[in-house]
Amino acid sequence: MCGIVGYIGTKKASPILINGLIRLEYRGYDSAGISTVEKNGLSLMKDMGRVKNLYNLKGIDDLEGTIGIAHTRWATHGKPSKENSHPHMDNSKTFSVVHNGIIENYNELRKFLTDNGYTFYSQTDTEVIPNLIHYYYKKETNSDISRLLKAVQKACLDLIGSFALEILCCDFPDNMIVVRKDSPLVIGKGSDECYISSDIPAILSFTRDFYLLKDYEFVLLQRGSAKFYDKDLNEIDKETTTIEWDASSSEKNGYDDYMLKEIYEQPIAIRETIGSRINSNSKTEFDELNFTKEYLSSVNKIYFVACGTAMHAALVGKNLMEKLCRISSEVDIASEFRYRDPLVDKNSLCIFISQSGETADTIAALKLSKEKGAKTISISNVIGSSLTREADYSIYTHAGPEIAVASTKAYTSQVTLLSVLAIYFSEILELNSDLINKLKSELLELPKKIETTLTLADKIKDFAMQVYQEKDMFFLGRGIDEAVAKEAALKLKEISYIHAESYAAGELKHGAIALIENDVTVITVMTDSKLVEKTVSNIQEVATRGAKTLVVTNQDIDCNLFDKVIHIPEVHPYLAPIISVIPLQLFAYYISKEKGLDVDKPRNLAKSVTVE
Ligand code: M6R
Repeated sequence: MCGIVGYIGTKKASPILINGLIRLEYRGYDSAGISTVEKNGLSLMKDMGRVKNLYNLKGIDDLEGTIGIAHTRWATHGKPSKENSHPHMDNSKTFSVVHNGIIENYNELRKFLTDNGYTFYSQTDTEVIPNLIHYYYKKETNSDISRLLKAVQKACLDLIGSFALEILCCDFPDNMIVVRKDSPLVIGKGSDECYISSDIPAILSFTRDFYLLKDYEFVLLQRGSAKFYDKDLNEIDKETTTIEWDASSSEKNGYDDYMLKEIYEQPIAIRETIGSRINSNSKTEFDELNFTKEYLSSVNKIYFVACGTAMHAALVGKNLMEKLCRISSEVDIASEFRYRDPLVDKNSLCIFISQSGETADTIAALKLSKEKGAKTISISNVIGSSLTREADYSIYTHAGPEIAVASTKAYTSQVTLLSVLAIYFSEILELNSDLINKLKSELLELPKKIETTLTLADKIKDFAMQVYQEKDMFFLGRGIDEAVAKEAALKLKEISYIHAESYAAGELKHGAIALIENDVTVITVMTDSKLVEKTVSNIQEVATRGAKTLVVTNQDIDCNLFDKVIHIPEVHPYLAPIISVIPLQLFAYYISKEKGLDVDKPRNLAKSVTVE
């Protein structure tokens, strides 16, 4: 986690850096700090809490430097405090460093450096980095820039763990070095300047041309130039990639919060994700994939691996793959996958889903699957993200930047892409052709139906106002609806801090029904006609015990049986999750707003979890 940003050019750096930090705050907001190259050396300003504390610091406006680095923190090693805030400097104050990632061997390095006379002032793992650079820097005899490069390289080779680093050195005031390993970092190229950031949206208003770095590529930045070096410091060529995202897509555009904006962007996100892949009159196309009937028939199992909301999308993917393609499928939480010795082999197809493409557990699971000989596909929303660089095949959702910590449009785009993928496989396998044609034409109608669903916002808000003070809620569903219940419960928990549980509707009576008492809210998703009767009975079981019941459905049911019914548009049950989740995203949103919480930046969370 943590967000880092940097600037080297001809403009005053501090406003650019602070602006970048504000955009990266979703990655962590325990503290923020900045370091710039000033006439009298390296400046250092930092404070606990949000970026606004930093820009309120006395003297911040006086920073004149046109080169600088900055950091917003999600604490891992060392509590949130001023001392533990980044940037960190070495003892001699020659180097200033910001770091995103975790240094696993920091204890050994700290001991080594302490034995060599260094003192530590924070509890962070990061503080070893500037001091280790200094240790090697002292040993280099030459005085040109290669001295700095070599010292940084040697220090990085000693680090075990993950890091994205920006490094300033007061002896070379016109330079900055950046490098990454297993943590995200991009460099945006301007005409005579460079912007560095943990993600693309934070600097999209400055440029659309980006250098995407591989692990252990060292970059020496000077005003107007960027030189790239491999792990052994051989100079290498690097091309820029142009990112098509519109700069305004990372603004709030008049909405109160990013989350609300992103909920309302779902029709366009779905339309873009389907793109030209689905055509009603021809076969589904994936330019990125080249699978044959022979290959797909040889797949013994599909493993879907992901975390959080992306894992909930995977649950829908599994359902679709099994139903449409008859390929046995499993869903794994990425952080568990590696440690359960999965039976993955060369006949397995492993699909990794991650909005950011930077989730450490998901990347580690992908690496393991490759080692075991499986074919790997990544599904991500971020071009060139780490996950996509590791996978055999990469396919993208086209949701545009998702800034709110709570994922909304990325989830529905992931489910959409998984639906398109299952259809594509099914066509290759020559299965279910009538059903496939129906699903294809329904997919193309989805954006319109989502627009209709969004018009239900006021009704959902009314119900949210009735229950926002509750402590616990339950979400139920059967079949594919249970996956949506899980996602809805997560959404409510993460932004409203209300305890929420999701259950397969038929499972509640095996224990958890003991928790149902007067006025407990139970929300049920019901979109499959084959499962309606049984699910209605399950709702009755809780209603008779006093529960307040909300139903999200497109089925013909007796509304008098429930406290509130939200009618969503009719859609094939296999595609229903893309619609039925939307009222529940809005439900969580309105509750969080009513409670006066920070919807976009819920406590303790960060948007991309780059630590295992
Ligand atoms: O970037 P990823 O899709 O890999 O992130 C996975 C989860 O951390 C993420 O979906 C998380 O659960 C969201 N905050 C949920 O809204």
